[in-house]
Amino acid sequence: MKITVIGAGHVGATAAYRIAEKQLAKHVVLLDILEGIPQGKALDMFEAGPVCLFDTKIRGTNDYRDTADSDIVVITAGLARKPGMSREDLLMKNAGIVRDVTDQVMRHSNNPIIIMVSNPLDIMTHVGHVRSKLPSSRVIGMAGVLDTARFRTFIADELDVSVQDVNAFVLGGHGDSMVPVVKYTNVAGIPITELMSAETIASLVDRTRKGGAEIVNYLKEGSAYYAPAASAVEMIDAIVNDRKRILPCSALLDGQYGIDKVYIGVPVKLGKNGIESILEIDLDKKELEGLRKSASIVKENCDNLASLLS
Ligand code: NAI
Ligand code: 2OP
Repeated sequence: MKITVIGAGHVGATAAYRIAEKQLAKHVVLLDILEGIPQGKALDMFEAGPVCLFDTKIRGTNDYRDTADSDIVVITAGLARKPGMSREDLLMKNAGIVRDVTDQVMRHSNNPIIIMVSNPLDIMTHVGHVRSKLPSSRVIGMAGVLDTARFRTFIADELDVSVQDVNAFVLGGHGDSMVPVVKYTNVAGIPITELMSAETIASLVDRTRKGGAEIVNYLKEGSAYYAPAASAVEMIDAIVNDRKRILPCSALLDGQYGIDKVYIGVPVKLGKNGIESILEIDLDKKELEGLRKSASIVKENCDNLASLLS
């Protein structure tokens, strides 16, 4: 197993280190356009091997030839949000970066699984899919795992219970239009509607929607990276170990939920072939409307990129 991480910034470097620590690959390649940064960070991680007991070989590079024959490629290259900047503000800049990165990746790897992290997430996943020409099952966006982790964290914290017992689903686009699905949210099987008031649930839903911005406002420079990197690596773990996990990921819909040819966050089964199936769960009218609204925003933005991607 060889895993390449493009972008040796906050998310990319954290993800590369976590992949090594969990020994999910024999080889990890960390690539960035900045000279010295991926090399230095990768060497530093490699030297943690004897202490943390992993044999993963981690190499930093600026040369795509070193990424040859990767099984999985995680794309984190791009600009991060600054305070006051929406994910959509990043659109044109990151679309150009992700287009070029995907082209380079595909020159050196035949049939990788691409996990997109760069924002705006659902749109960048579309860019990766269009440029790579890979089947949509092999181009997957990471956002739902993160948004769901945030929702689960807030619920567990509010109820003072273990996060392990909190199950939830946050669907839709990775943005203000995300759709936390309260109906499928429970603590050890007990619906949260039986454990907290409607007002409390509404405030946790709102905090989840604004979860990315909450951290940007603290950090000032840059955005969240520990939970995002952990979320991408949870997806990698499902693929590498063929776990058939049911996780919310950005997937290309083909009529499911009445949405066609748009990448949006939905529950999928993740295994060694990437997305092995898309689950169509029963949503109430408001949630379904929310998902479709989210998809229409993504679609409009993707349509605006047509000339950049042709
Ligand atoms: P960062 O600024 O720390 O790292 C980005 C790295 O990409 C930099 O090292 C930069 O040199 C590199 N880069 C820029 N252009 C490149 C190119 N053409 N080729 C290779 N590398 C290139 O940013 P951070 O915090 O790591 O975030 C990365 C991206 O992930 C951002 O777009 C951010 O918004 C997004 N993100 C998405 C999340 C999600 O849930 N999907 C969560 C957190 C971040
Ligand atoms: C987040 O949700 C910035 O999309 C990133 O933290």
